[in-house]
Amino acid sequence: MTEAPAVLYHKEGPVAWVTLNRPQVLNAYNLAMRDELYQTLEAVRDDPEVRGAVLCGAGERAFCAGADLTEFGTAPSQAIARAVRWERDVWGLFLSLEVPVVAALHGYVLGSGVEMALLCDLRIASEDAIFGLPETALGMIPAAGGTQTLPRTVGISPALELLLTNQRWTAQEARERGLVHRVVPRAELLDQVRRTLAGILSGGREALALAKRALLNGMDIPLGEALDMEARLASSLLIRKGSAGVPGRPKTSTGR
Ligand code: COA
Repeated sequence: MTEAPAVLYHKEGPVAWVTLNRPQVLNAYNLAMRDELYQTLEAVRDDPEVRGAVLCGAGERAFCAGADLTEFGTAPSQAIARAVRWERDVWGLFLSLEVPVVAALHGYVLGSGVEMALLCDLRIASEDAIFGLPETALGMIPAAGGTQTLPRTVGISPALELLLTNQRWTAQEARERGLVHRVVPRAELLDQVRRTLAGILSGGREALALAKRALLNGMDIPLGEALDMEARLASSLLIRKGSAGVPGRPKTSTGR
């Protein structure tokens, strides 16, 4: 019997739907899912018709319950594991997507489930969603960017709480701490995501891509450089639209 794909892909007009599809194990992230997700995200990135994307989980119980615990320790060696990761940098691929990506979160959102959600631009959760990072309790640390993306999203204090205490946050708590943007009834989750993306996509494709790039790239450089980068991107957009650029923006040198 052939295995069901670990990741499903379909398009609704300009929106790519990427569904984690191992509902029998709460969409635990395994090697097959990594490989299929990588290929799917490449398809999203390379399809000029795609203007936005959704990441969601199949089944009633989970977006993703974290790394597949049955695969722990099965990599042939640390060196091979590192090489594979280098070749298939799923997390880097997420961050390289120019189109807005919305995570639709329901049920268990644990470990790499939280981390994948953090690599999306918007996170909409249903009321039943439960968030946690159980890695340290299992003697590991998050390895899909979570130690870096979580504090950048919620701030250091709540990030340390989630990272170190093995606490679970309800959807409402996740909303209060800024981990998710919105909490909606379970039955409305996918429609709310559709509506949110439709609203976003009424904006220009290039403007969305450049705004996203300006914000994400700017977080990691001093404010002065970030403002210069923003001015360059704004000018390039205006020039491409046939205008003369941003008028009179002084070069900043705050160095912050
Ligand atoms: N890896 C592999 N299988 C997993 C899994 C994971 N991370 N999470 C859940 N599953 C599997 C269970 O083994 C079970 O499979 P089975 O029916 O063949 O026994 C199935 O998914 C359903 O999970 P179950 O544990 O029976 O559901 P529950 O409602 O009792 O508990 C959780 C749900 C999420 C609390 C529990 O499954 C859990 O703690 N999972 C592990 C979470 C985790 O530590 N993730 C790793 C982060 S690094």
